[in-house]
Amino acid sequence: MTVASAPGKVILFGEHAVVYGQPAIAIPVREVQAQVRIEPGPAEQGTLVVVQDLRRRFLLREAADDDPLARIVRLALRSVRHEGDPDLTLTITSTIPIARGMGSGAAVSTAIVRALAKHFEFWLPSRAVSELVYQTEVLYHGTPSGIDNTVVAFEKPVFFVKGEGWEFFWVDKPFLLAIADTGIESSTKQVVADLRRRYEADVDRYQVLFGHVGEIASRARLAIEQGDHAALGGLMDENQELLQEMGVSCPELDRMVLAAREGGALGAKLSGAGRGGNMIALVTEEAQGRVDMMLRLAGATRVIISRVR
Ligand code: MEV
Repeated sequence: MTVASAPGKVILFGEHAVVYGQPAIAIPVREVQAQVRIEPGPAEQGTLVVVQDLRRRFLLREAADDDPLARIVRLALRSVRHEGDPDLTLTITSTIPIARGMGSGAAVSTAIVRALAKHFEFWLPSRAVSELVYQTEVLYHGTPSGIDNTVVAFEKPVFFVKGEGWEFFWVDKPFLLAIADTGIESSTKQVVADLRRRYEADVDRYQVLFGHVGEIASRARLAIEQGDHAALGGLMDENQELLQEMGVSCPELDRMVLAAREGGALGAKLSGAGRGGNMIALVTEEAQGRVDMMLRLAGATRVIISRVR
């Protein structure tokens, strides 16, 4: 039996603007994971994929071309020089909430690639894993920036610019994030497409908004490198205001952002596509319990405290 896993992620700064070429920052969230187990299957079975959480199972040879799970299994098999339909059972489990901006699709795809590479004893560098996963992100999200597959495959905080590349950077002082779920499913594809329509109707306005977000992401990187958590929190608040102006927040997210600040968070914002999904708050050791409680009172269905280092 072979087992491999991959973490979830959150966008710290720059979601949406990153699709238009501005820098963004994302971090892995190891408190949630996707896991893939591979076992030999009976002769002539072919490759069977079992998705436990979705109660779904399918044979690879019967799956459609544009099925993201089938796509990543086929791509991974080809990359590890196994073109056929080997007799294997892949069982997928995940603790990453689906459609909440935490990169569940990218994590499942990454875990599949890692598991198949391990099973066939084929070494794939993280860059190759990320590139393969990007090809399924296109099926999930339409026009992904590429930040999700990058942060999940490398499992490091990244400063990412679409089309240019990414840099890893120094986290001077570890910090705590409270990641709170609205419980509302959000389709990244839909929110990105809606924003695209608004952008096309008023390019100048959105270019200015996206430009401000990009400046905030660059200043945030500096604040992280210098361990300046007060500045970092302020930048999260500024980024949230711009996300509201872009029309990607929602009353539930706004309520939780306010609640986190009232609980003593240094800053708070939505994370990911918005209109549901998760929000994040920068918290101190002393304030984390109170912020957690305030977030639950404001409607959070789950709160994860994650240490960024
Ligand atoms: C999704 O995690 C973040 C977005 O910026 C979309 C993307 O970068 O592809 C909303």
